[in-house]
Amino acid sequence: MRDKLIIFDTTLRDGEQSPGASMTRDEKVRIAKALERMRVDVIEAGFPTASTGDFEAVQAVARAVRDCGVCGLARALDRDIDRAAEALREAAAPRIHTFIATSPIHMERKLRMTPDQVLAQAVHAVQRARQYTDDVEFSAEDAGRSETDFLCRVIEAVIDAGARTVNIPDTVGYNTPERFGTLIRDLRSRVPNADRAVFSVHCHNDLGLAVANSLSAVANGARQVECTVNGLGERAGNAALEEVVMAVRTRQDLFPLDVRLDATQIVHCSRLVSNITGFPVQPNKAIVGANAFAHESGIHQDGVLKHRETYEIMRAEDVGWSANRMVLGKHSGRNAFKARLKELGVVFASDAELNAAFERFKELADKKHEIYDEDLQALVTNSGTEAEHERFRLVGLKVVSETGRSPHADITLLVDGQEVQARSDGGGPVDASFKAIDGVLHSGSTLQLYSVNNITSGTDAQGEVTVRVERGGRIVNGQGADTDIVVASVKAYLHALNKIMAPAERTHPQL
Ligand code: KIV
Ligand code: ZN
Repeated sequence: MRDKLIIFDTTLRDGEQSPGASMTRDEKVRIAKALERMRVDVIEAGFPTASTGDFEAVQAVARAVRDCGVCGLARALDRDIDRAAEALREAAAPRIHTFIATSPIHMERKLRMTPDQVLAQAVHAVQRARQYTDDVEFSAEDAGRSETDFLCRVIEAVIDAGARTVNIPDTVGYNTPERFGTLIRDLRSRVPNADRAVFSVHCHNDLGLAVANSLSAVANGARQVECTVNGLGERAGNAALEEVVMAVRTRQDLFPLDVRLDATQIVHCSRLVSNITGFPVQPNKAIVGANAFAHESGIHQDGVLKHRETYEIMRAEDVGWSANRMVLGKHSGRNAFKARLKELGVVFASDAELNAAFERFKELADKKHEIYDEDLQALVTNSGTEAEHERFRLVGLKVVSETGRSPHADITLLVDGQEVQARSDGGGPVDASFKAIDGVLHSGSTLQLYSVNNITSGTDAQGEVTVRVERGGRIVNGQGADTDIVVASVKAYLHALNKIMAPAERTHPQL
């Protein structure tokens, strides 16, 4: 019997901790449905205590997902655990993930607790979580810098208390593959009841070693890997799901394990997450980067044509690269549109929402003949589903850009239901449009990032713009897509300003 490797996806929780990557409830449900279709084993949907929005997002994911576990994060505190249990009440397979730090620096400086107090609180938290579900995971935060003897004591005690999964996070990305693998091997051999729990790892990428450390742990007996799509996550991110899965699949000689994941969904999920969070994927990113399977040198191209395996260790189609097909066009009807979006995990809350999206689809189909899945995703991202938080909306835009003259923009916005007009000059048409908006909204934010990508190829492709703005230490991303990149830019900017000017109170799990 071969062992199974459990893929625990934390894109919606740790991924969301990337500055600017916060997602709405509907966006989380869309990603969760895509993860379910990709057949991850467990989806960590969020941290329910963080805010009402987080609670509702976890609840919505728990309702929407049937074919994999849904997990909520909770500090080792009664109120967090009770809140997580409540958010997960309707999940088909609920998991509570509770954690407390075990490293000397975290215990002394952050928690101000003695090791014995930490151990007692860990045990209590697991027991409390077990009152709600059998599927309880315990994490020893900053395990990567914890003392092995103490870790052994904590792990033995939490397994006795009922934890079925014990997670060993390298919270600050400090470890190296050999050391981390040895740690996992030592823990598994020294903890007397280790056979009663699945050992899991959760590696951060501060030194670029998250995937390598995770794989070393797997080689030493870890049977769950916590990872995120595109390696999104706090600071430098988490281990990238696509890299972990494809390393295990491609090197079955080293990792003879079963992974139930459907790898042909990887590229689709990668694009969806990038599109929703506004974190572009670098072209040379393994597996999901645009160049990951592109051969530039003549020698390589020649070799691949003669015999693919001369230079390719994986097939592009096995991770979903050929799935970029035309799905809809100008003559497609409302039902075809609705059905395709349902397959992509987008379910409209009302007919009005569907109709508004269909209108936008028709407008796009007039400008662009072939509509791909990526176009549809861009069409519904930051559109009607968030309308209730949308204070500012673009009504009309006229930009004049002429060689030798300073470009200017005339813009009409809907601001809290009132039409407002503004005009500005600028260094270019985008600059002029943003200045016109600033002249009306006075948001007090600063633009930190502006980037444009084309969603599909061709000059009639939609441009997808991502902006990142900062105000008072809070960072948000905004996205907009249109066949006109100035319009896409304005949509992206307004999307970000709608978010940054809405109130947001959130507790960070690790503070
Ligand atoms: O990095 C970390 O330690 C975490 C835990 C909450 C698992 O994200
Ligand atoms: Zn983490």
